[in-house]
Parts: sequence; C-alpha cells; structure tokens
Amino acid sequence: MRVLLTAGPTYEPLDPVRFIGNHSTGKMGYALAEAFAAAGADVTLISGPTNLPDPTDPRIRTMRVQTAAEMYAAASAEAPTADVWVFAAAVADYRPATVAPEKIKKSGDTLTLELVKNVDIAATLGKTKRPEQFSVGFALETEHEEEHALGKLRRKNFDLVVLNSLRDAGAGFQHDTNKVTLLAADGQKTIFGLKPKAAVAHDIVQAVLTRISPHA
Ligand code: CTP
Ligand code: CA
Repeated sequence: MRVLLTAGPTYEPLDPVRFIGNHSTGKMGYALAEAFAAAGADVTLISGPTNLPDPTDPRIRTMRVQTAAEMYAAASAEAPTADVWVFAAAVADYRPATVAPEKIKKSGDTLTLELVKNVDIAATLGKTKRPEQFSVGFALETEHEEEHALGKLRRKNFDLVVLNSLRDAGAGFQHDTNKVTLLAADGQKTIFGLKPKAAVAHDIVQAVLTRISPHA
C-alpha cells in the first residue's frame, strides 16, 4: 500500500524575510505517517516547514516544501500512484499577490496586503481520484462542525473526514493530544475521546484499513 500524506503549515512569502503562515506543528501528520508505516505502508510525507525531524522509519520518504504551490506540485506528482491520500496539512488559503524582491520598508501608518487564493490541493486532486483510491481529509471547525465537515467531504471527494473541534481543551494545534470525530462517506460517524496524537493516528489508520480492505 502506498500512502501520500501532506502535513504541517505552508509559508507564503511576502518579501525575502517575511511570510504568512499558521501555527500548525505537523505533529498529527507525522504521527499518521508513522502509523501508516507501522501498518506496512510506504509513505510519502510532503511536509511544510516544521520543527520536527524527518521520521526515521525507512518506509517514510519525507519531502520538504514551503508554499501551497510547492506542496501541490509534489502531491500531484505522487497522487496517481498512491492508494491512499491523506491531507493533514494546514494549507494557507491565500498568498500575497506579489512577492517583493527586496525587504518591504516601513512607511505609512497602515499597510494593506493584497492576497490571492491558493490552489485547493485536496479538492483539485479529488477530481482525479479513481474508484480504488481512498482520500482522507481534515476539517478544523469552530461552529456547525459536522455540517461544515460533511460539506468538505463532498466538495473535496473525501471518503473519510477527520473533524477536529477547537471546543475541546487539549485538542488541535499546539497540543500533543487530540479529540476527533470521523465522518465517512458511507454515513458512519465515530466519536473518539481525547488521546495522544499517536493513538489518534492509529485510530485513523484502522478506519482507513477496514474500509479499503474489509477483511483486514
Ligand atoms: N486543503 C488543501 N488545500 C488547501 C486548503 C485545504 O488540501 N488549499 C485540505 C486540508 O489539508 C484539509 C481539508 O482540505 O484536509 C480542509 O481544510 P480546511 O482549511 O478545513 O478547509 P477549506 O476548504 O480551506 O475551508 P475553510 O478554511 O474556509 O474552513
Ligand atoms: Ca482553509
């Protein structure tokens, strides 16, 4: 089994010394890479900038990227030959419309940045998904959680969406624990308790394995 996994944030440059990014640590994505490798899969981990070392498991190949455009280029090259796609990255939705060639100098009292939309990696690749391929997405929501997560499942052609609720203390960004609900395209819903990200990753891998090989 071959797994394509995106993880971490993306950094969108503004000038040679500044970028727009987010607080994703990459821990959930890296834990998933380890869990899929432990289950015997060959994993391509396409990672945005993180402080985490490359996983040492020989089944995991780590590719480092900075921007959403770079992550998309790497993911689209791997997607056709992967059996399972996992989109755990916190991709920047927008990037600066232009990247200044020199450091932007301080001038007026306000500064307005123009941003343009980035490619939606999961949705774009979702349009190319073959029936035997399986796609897993994440949704981080603060309101109407399930409705929004199911909307993403449909729009991005996911087979499974991992819903992270920011309402739960100890879950999501910047934590070593997470609390998720899995929503499947087949209508199944599974609510898990707060646990270490490695255990959450194991639960997600099991949910994928039972759906791609019902006898596993
Ligand atoms: N995703 C992606 N490429 C993007 C944005 C999101 O691949 N440019 C993926 C994420 O990795 C995640 C899923 O899509 O698996 C949902 O990401 P999220 O940010 O929750 O969804 P958006 O469609 O960007 O909607 P919004 O941020 O408005 O909630
Ligand atoms: Ca987003």
